[in-house]
Amino acid sequence: MPTITETATTSPIGRQTPRIDGPFKVSGTAMYASDFNFAGLLYAVPVEATIANGKLQKLDTREAEKMPDVRAIFHRANIGKIFRSVLQPPNSGIADERRPPLADDVIRYYGQYIAVAVADTFETAKAAADAVRATYTTEKPNVNLDLQPENEPEVVETTHGRLKRLQSERGDPDKAFASAQVKVDQTYVTPAETHNPIELQGTIAMWDGQMLTIYEESQGIFNLRSVLAQMFGLPKENVRVITKFVGSGFGSKLWPWTHCALACAAARQLGKPVKLVLSRRMMFQSVGHRPRTQQRVRLGATNEGKLESLMQDYLNDLDILGGYHENCGEATSYFYSVPNLRVHWGRTRRNIGSPTPMRGPGAVPGLFATESAMNELADQLKIDPVRLRELNEPKIDEGKGIPFSSRHYLECLQLGGERFGWANRNSEVGSMKRDGLILGWGVSGAAWISGRFPAQASVELRDDGSARVACGTQDIGTGTYTILAQLVSDKTGVPLNKIEVVLGDTSLPPGPISGGSLVTGSMVPAVFDAADNAITSLLTVATTEPGSPFGNRTRDDLAFESGRVFAKADGPAKGVPFADLLRRTNMRLVTGSGKSEGTLDEKKPKVSMHSYGCHFVEVTWQPAIARLRVNRVVTVIDGGRIINPLAGRNQIEGAVVMGIGMALLEHTIYDPQNGAPINSNLADYLMSVNADAPLMEVHFLDYPDTDVNPLGARGIGEIGLAGVAAAITAATYHATGVRVRELPIRIEDLLTSSILT
Ligand code: MOS
Repeated sequence: MPTITETATTSPIGRQTPRIDGPFKVSGTAMYASDFNFAGLLYAVPVEATIANGKLQKLDTREAEKMPDVRAIFHRANIGKIFRSVLQPPNSGIADERRPPLADDVIRYYGQYIAVAVADTFETAKAAADAVRATYTTEKPNVNLDLQPENEPEVVETTHGRLKRLQSERGDPDKAFASAQVKVDQTYVTPAETHNPIELQGTIAMWDGQMLTIYEESQGIFNLRSVLAQMFGLPKENVRVITKFVGSGFGSKLWPWTHCALACAAARQLGKPVKLVLSRRMMFQSVGHRPRTQQRVRLGATNEGKLESLMQDYLNDLDILGGYHENCGEATSYFYSVPNLRVHWGRTRRNIGSPTPMRGPGAVPGLFATESAMNELADQLKIDPVRLRELNEPKIDEGKGIPFSSRHYLECLQLGGERFGWANRNSEVGSMKRDGLILGWGVSGAAWISGRFPAQASVELRDDGSARVACGTQDIGTGTYTILAQLVSDKTGVPLNKIEVVLGDTSLPPGPISGGSLVTGSMVPAVFDAADNAITSLLTVATTEPGSPFGNRTRDDLAFESGRVFAKADGPAKGVPFADLLRRTNMRLVTGSGKSEGTLDEKKPKVSMHSYGCHFVEVTWQPAIARLRVNRVVTVIDGGRIINPLAGRNQIEGAVVMGIGMALLEHTIYDPQNGAPINSNLADYLMSVNADAPLMEVHFLDYPDTDVNPLGARGIGEIGLAGVAAAITAATYHATGVRVRELPIRIEDLLTSSILT
């Protein structure tokens, strides 16, 4: 139960609030999924295929089985039944890799599990897994980097159901492009990127008869339950998923992966709890990645800079069997005003593990392409890239033909420009210098979805003046524990240090996935509803239960404010703290349940809900040693009302640092010989770290978006990453004269720079 020692006297909404779970994390008492231990616990280690395309011919397990303390080597013939699962719209049964583990002998990607060793210790299980001998018939894997679309129909199956490949269309974009006075026609590429949360993925599975309980570091416990119930042929009530803390996920822990079913099946076969934790290498193979994307963007504009045509044709690669679609067109149809537009997509299958959402899926690679094209257009037109964006500001969401709920994009650009000093920009390449370094300046816009998932919550008020709020959502390190405490404190007047927040258990009221930056926005109305219902129950107790000082009043005579029940006629000063009322009536607690509907499946939405933002970036270029550094970033976010500016700024700063990694460092390399991700460790897969972090300034505009919820809070987990890479490549061009359209920017790219002094 996370708490902190702070007393709230007024509402904590909008106040810088340290995380209530912080002390648990820094003291090592926060229990992550693989930290749990149980009597008789066994350890499982999967055996990974060492080819990416072919067939398993023979599995020799004899040596491994003979090792002391080895309990079993499970493979296709002895693992028992693992069923398929299907999508259960709207929010259940989601999985990117749907094939049950060990379902056939075909190997489709490197690291696919072919067996699992179980032993009394992790070390023995690892040694046994290493001792399993596999022979294969092998074909050359296809991990080609050049993407050509598969011959798929125009309506295709995806992880989330059927989708049209023609994503958005208006006017006649071909004709408008052909006749445009100024044109950009470029292809932008983003590489495969692998999520590297510090906490490795893993499962502890245990059975009690037909009841399955698992501890898993999941970003979506209810969806995981729905998939496991199907895979083991159980009613969903028989499956319980517990996720108390998550050492981050970035999307890799949103949907179930095959290791989880392997652990459950092994535990079933042995009748003992089984713990299976992946290695860092496995994290690169079998639990998703951001797919490679290749996006052709065409912009046609007038000489004055008014957009006439926008076409985006994009591709992502994916695994052999899956349905993953990287929605690079998410922000395209509404971001700028343009009368003629088309967004169309395709996919290319490769011998790789399934892609999955990674922070800002779709929009992040998508905005790299479209915002880069906007910057190129500005350079061609010789107009300021901020001015170009101002010239094309839409009045409504032109993709859907509906108004925006709340959009302050131009104000983001204006404030960002002021804070950055953009007016001092000299647009000539290589013209700006400081301390012997060449400076490059770049800008980009950012956008991300908003809205709500369905959510439920319960709130208790207790006779010691404390409160409890419970919801089966998760805190993936973003601050959900703290936000829920702030919401309850706001409604009930209970100080933060007396609020218990309980998350991460499917026995709690169903909560949203920790995804899409939607948890905060989704939870506000559900928690408020629950708190209101708890207060209503309290007022009923006040008028009906013996011992209450309000026995002669009716329910309508009473009100609740700042933790006190009072007669409206007498005012709050004569009120009674709710704890006193409960004690006097011999009640331990009152409970309220709350609920709110989702918005994402609305067939005819009335408003277009998104967050907006921008980044101004300064790079330094040192040509003598080809050294490019991101030196300074000013970010402005229009993310609705910010409930916790401390955690909020932290989200944006982390995302900006991740964007530097996206622009300069991150890419997963698949060996063309055997299809293995060869930089599958934290030494070879480069991410930006503290030493790469620039001077960062983050501003929130803080306009409430009351279409999302009564507080006007949207989510801010992902938007900070959108656009960063496009601003960095623009700044890099400004410094070096080299236009990089394929990420990450490599030193080799910059060696062609003509800016040599
Ligand atoms: Mo995020 S990619 O929705 O976890």
